[in-house]
Amino acid sequence: MGSTRVLGLSKAFHSHSSLCNRTRVFPRNPTVVLRAFASTLSPPSKAVVYEQHGPPDQVTRIIDLPPVELKEKDVCVKMLAAPINPSDINRIEGCVYPVRPPVPAIGGYEGVGEIQAVGSAVKDFSLGDWVIPSPPSFGTWQTYIVKEESVWHKINKNVPMEYAATVTVNPLSALRMLEDFVQLNPGDAIVQNGATSIVGQCIIQLARIRGIHSINIIRDRVGSEEVKEKLKKLGADVVYTESQLEVKNVKGLLGDLPEPALGFNCVGGNPASFVLKFLRQGGTMVTYGGMAKKPVTVSTSSFIFKDLALRGFWLQKWMSLERAKECRVMIDNLLGLVCDGKFKYELELVPFHDFSVALDKALGKLGSQPKQVLKF
Ligand SMILES: NC(=O)c1ccc[n+]([C@@H]2O[C@H](COP(=O)([O-])OP(=O)(O)OC[C@H]3O[C@@H](n4cnc5c(N)ncnc54)[C@H](OP(=O)(O)O)[C@@H]3O)[C@@H](O)[C@H]2O)c1
Repeated sequence: MGSTRVLGLSKAFHSHSSLCNRTRVFPRNPTVVLRAFASTLSPPSKAVVYEQHGPPDQVTRIIDLPPVELKEKDVCVKMLAAPINPSDINRIEGCVYPVRPPVPAIGGYEGVGEIQAVGSAVKDFSLGDWVIPSPPSFGTWQTYIVKEESVWHKINKNVPMEYAATVTVNPLSALRMLEDFVQLNPGDAIVQNGATSIVGQCIIQLARIRGIHSINIIRDRVGSEEVKEKLKKLGADVVYTESQLEVKNVKGLLGDLPEPALGFNCVGGNPASFVLKFLRQGGTMVTYGGMAKKPVTVSTSSFIFKDLALRGFWLQKWMSLERAKECRVMIDNLLGLVCDGKFKYELELVPFHDFSVALDKALGKLGSQPKQVLKF
């Protein structure tokens, strides 16, 4: 029995050693380990791992990982919270995502944690500081992470942990997409589908802060009026369900709002066509997600007579290392807006031990749900 346990753990360690960027040390002699543990080893960690790509609810499991040795520039972070984003799911599925960690891998890409221990040469962090990986890095769905200090960005501890955990992937994308494609001025308008997503909620609020109107498209659902009201409270000018847009003259719905010069598409299929229909002559649609897993189709006439431009955005590519400093400033600004009560979105904190429930919700198995954020 004893040797089976040792073999099992050893095997887990062996098969998952590439999961961590520092070598996990298998505790052969408990006495030695206890002494070393105080100064150089992280606590053992629990992690969501997948050894092959496939449906996330079938290929992921929670395993125990042994302690990791801290090098002199390493920081050991006790994770507090990490979201389940659509891209995390895509990476596990493995088919579409161009950059993903080699398997076996630990899930998750962004999150927030508290400094638990630091290596002997670490000067800029103290125990108890809150940090996020910035740029984000793979493997945030685990209770303890050991990575070099340069990976971590210290943030304000007054921010609710669920916002600190989710500030990079979606809010930063919303911010960049509003800035980088079309020069918008106060009084202009944008149009977007997937308006209930975190990116969508962020676009509404960041646009409103800049005096830009937003035209929003959501899926039909029971309780759509309630959802529309929620988005309007965030600053949405108008919100339409897809079925409301099955009309000949979509622009007739604009009323006093200007025709938008910029549109955002994270769905594909018909909802992408609705975005295109709203756009003005020479307008641009930026595709950044494909939630419906359907292609974007564009009529020939909208190219010829409207001269529309189709662009794409991918945050992971945008966040090159040269932009690391710039990104951290933007993140601090976004978290500042949260602290000032000017920026919010719907989240649900879920205990880590309920990972499978959170995953089912994130996979859409239980209908529309708020963003799932694991609380460790
Ligand atoms: N390119 C980039 O760099 C980048 C960066 C960040 C995010 N993204 C992408 O942006 C999108 C939104 O991410 P998020 O984290 O903000 O989303 P989220 O908060 O997790 O919300 C999911 C959104 O997808 C919608 N949705 C789910 N299944 C759908 C389906 N089958 N058809 C149509 N809509 C569906 C949901 O609508 P309901 O409310 O109706 O359920 C909700 O609006 C994702 O595609 C994500 O990959 C891309």
